[in-house]
Amino acid sequence: MATQAKSDFAHDGAPGHGARHVAIIMDGNGRWAKKRFMPRIAGHRAGVEAVRKVARAARELGLECLTLYAFSSENWKRPAGEVADLMSLLRRFIESDLDEFHANGVRLRVIGNYRALDASLVDMIDGAVARTAGNSGPIVAIALNYGAQDELVRAAQAIALRVRAGEIDPAAISLEDVAAGLDTADLPPLDLLIRTSGEQRLSNFMLWQAAYAELYFTDTLWPDFDARALAKALDAFRLRDRRFGGL
Ligand code: FPP
Repeated sequence: MATQAKSDFAHDGAPGHGARHVAIIMDGNGRWAKKRFMPRIAGHRAGVEAVRKVARAARELGLECLTLYAFSSENWKRPAGEVADLMSLLRRFIESDLDEFHANGVRLRVIGNYRALDASLVDMIDGAVARTAGNSGPIVAIALNYGAQDELVRAAQAIALRVRAGEIDPAAISLEDVAAGLDTADLPPLDLLIRTSGEQRLSNFMLWQAAYAELYFTDTLWPDFDARALAKALDAFRLRDRRFGGL
């Protein structure tokens, strides 16, 4: 059985899949809980376990960057209790897992307008990001209070300020200028965007970055997504023919 499991794990630590940056829309926690007659928070707790497993797998599979959509700028529409549960899970996750990330050389990053969150959480995030900033291993980027349209608006505002300061001519604003204004400016280009739970939409996630990313949808609910599921997605990615608009 163990041998079978190993042979199914196609990459076995080698980055032969060619992907540098994988992003995941972690969907289906609620349905996972509902199927088990459990409260939604139980699904989110199981979702955190999946985050742990997948972050470890990403490192073993040689990814340079794993970006996880943990809380969108639209998730505030959820009941206050669920929002509070998600924030508290995130806090506890940073408290409990930061040492392991740091010991493994992981660089923790956050994308999204996280500065609008509770001040003590912002401090905790800034501390965790600063502590791991000098590491040289893979990046785990958590998208928090993130919305791609909001990210583009913030980038436009930053460029407008540069125009007003006379630093840049509006006609000269380039693709690179926009990319440099995004939260992902110093992350590798996005190769593969995964969404779990059978939904097939981007839900305001990495709209600019996904321009030439490969999309991968799986019916697996997020709490059931694991190292093998990630390896399977990377196998599918390896077989894609990427032309970036060329021939
Ligand atoms: C979508 O499931 C999931 C979320 C909105 C939150 C994802 C959060 C976690 C996995 C836990 C916290 C993250 C970290 C990084 C510690 P859903 O609730 O929309 O599921 P449903 O569509 O089945 O209801």
